[in-house]
Amino acid sequence: MSQNAKDIAVLIGSLRKDSINRKAALALAGLAPPSLRLDLIEIGHLPFYNQELDGEPAQTPASYSDFRRRLARADGVIFATPEYNRSYPAVLKNAIDIGTRPYGKSIWSGKPAGVVSVSLGALGAFGANQQLRQLLANVNMRVLQQPEIYLAGADKLFDADGNVTVDSTRDLLRGFVDAFAAWTQPAAIAA
Ligand code: FNR
Repeated sequence: MSQNAKDIAVLIGSLRKDSINRKAALALAGLAPPSLRLDLIEIGHLPFYNQELDGEPAQTPASYSDFRRRLARADGVIFATPEYNRSYPAVLKNAIDIGTRPYGKSIWSGKPAGVVSVSLGALGAFGANQQLRQLLANVNMRVLQQPEIYLAGADKLFDADGNVTVDSTRDLLRGFVDAFAAWTQPAAIAA
């Protein structure tokens, strides 16, 4: 990893200790080229967004401020999401909502973003992936379009320690993180 590596925050839409999304996120971190440093950011402790907390007088929780500061300095964000009832989980929506406020101070706008969806099921959390992309367009993130990653039957793709056990999956994830590295370069951002 180079000293000038881009700082990429990874948000995971599952709070499960044995989450396969977490395993996929860790695998991405391990496969990332030296130009990227992936850092998993926890979101499960963030209270449900309540607009009053950012009102007058402000009673902004320290957890919101810490999260906003951390994400504000990130050069990009990768989301790893499971599918809950054909959408992405509430914990991810909550974190994204928190990052959009106070009004006019969104931490997301203009940042490169990537989406990976991971499911036990056969559809690879396609619904969650697509709905999340719709939300990210609204918060004005620059979402990497290709390669799309829908990991289906994903409980069979990682061992207990989170290592990828299938070569084609490893190649897919490496291709994604390489494309994301190119996506964070100034030429791609200016395009
Ligand atoms: C699920 N799961 C699920 N899977 C899917 O492919 N499509 C779906 O719509 C749903 N819906 C759903 C709802 C709820 C409330 C739960 C808890 C689960 C199953 C899901 O893919 C599975 O639990 C994954 O293991 C979740 O990802 P993590 O936690 O392993 O990262």
